[in-house]
Amino acid sequence: MEYAIRINNVSKRYKKTEALNELNLMVPKGSVYGFLGRNGAGKTTTIRIITRLIKKDKGEVYVLGSDAQENRAQTMQNIGAIVESPAFYRNLTGRQNLKIAADLFGADKSRIEDVIKIADISDYADRKVKAYSTGMKQRLGIAAALVHSPKILILDEPTNGLDPAGVKDLRKLIKDLSKNLKITILVSSHILSEVEQIADYVGILHEGRLMDEFSMDDINLGEQKYLLLETDSTEKAAKILNENKDKLNISSVSQGTGKNQLKIFCGRDANAQINSIMASNNVIVSGMSSVKNTLEERFFAVTGSSKVEMEGI
Ligand SMILES: Nc1ncnc2c1ncn2[C@@H]1O[C@H](COP(=O)(O)OP(=O)(O)OP(=O)(O)O)[C@@H](O)[C@H]1O
Ligand SMILES: [Mg+2]
Repeated sequence: MEYAIRINNVSKRYKKTEALNELNLMVPKGSVYGFLGRNGAGKTTTIRIITRLIKKDKGEVYVLGSDAQENRAQTMQNIGAIVESPAFYRNLTGRQNLKIAADLFGADKSRIEDVIKIADISDYADRKVKAYSTGMKQRLGIAAALVHSPKILILDEPTNGLDPAGVKDLRKLIKDLSKNLKITILVSSHILSEVEQIADYVGILHEGRLMDEFSMDDINLGEQKYLLLETDSTEKAAKILNENKDKLNISSVSQGTGKNQLKIFCGRDANAQINSIMASNNVIVSGMSSVKNTLEERFFAVTGSSKVEMEGI
């Protein structure tokens, strides 16, 4: 596999705080990589190091195969980023701000219209930025980050401060950018559901270390944890299942949360057989769903933090 970003054993200390501790991270080329971690985990520090806004104490960062430190100009050309929140001239319009960004990178003027289209901001591109909502600013930030046609886009918690509709729109924009422009996108977030919905790969950062890194396919196509079966007769269904436990390779059967539901701990290949055995015993099946290990379970398994702590953020 080719990697857009590779981080090897990077450490960073701010006076008393060890922000990154021998961090290793690999962002596959062309993917949307969700960089997940609680507040203070070190996400912004990592992004600042990749974008060369701060220096690392040790380790290496490679951007598209070349050392980011040795090839600073090339790294800047390859990366477009919004770190924390985008900064603009508030008294200028969106279009004027994009012109400044284009000049800064020596990008062609025609690119301004392209990015206005890509980020879908033409309705308000001629309004002053001080009249923009948070969501509008975020989209203008993405347009500005794309002005020099980078191969990698880095967004640090892009949905912070957006309402649910704004979050949904931004999620769609990120997916479209990945699909249509075929660029690599690194998005940091502390919100599990957000990462779950946009990422192809996930890295879980905790206290300055990468605790886990996997593809979302591992989660989505992963082993079945249990089968949730909904029938017209829970008692009869449970009896049949227990009688056929060995034949169907079921490890256990328990009551689900709903009173018509049973949780059946078995492999995915038993699902069809369970359905047919219910039919042949005249039990009406109104629902079957395969429940897998979620990203949330994986996150809490490696960070050891409780759900309550996470919600308290
Ligand atoms: N400029 C700084 N000076 C001192 N300590 C810092 C500085 N910036 C970050 N830190 C510390 O480094 C650690 C990592 O911070 P960082 O901002 O990278 O985390 P984060 O994952 O981006 O968190 P958040 O989700 O809150 O944005 C934290 O303990 C933080 O307090
Ligand atoms: Mg941060």
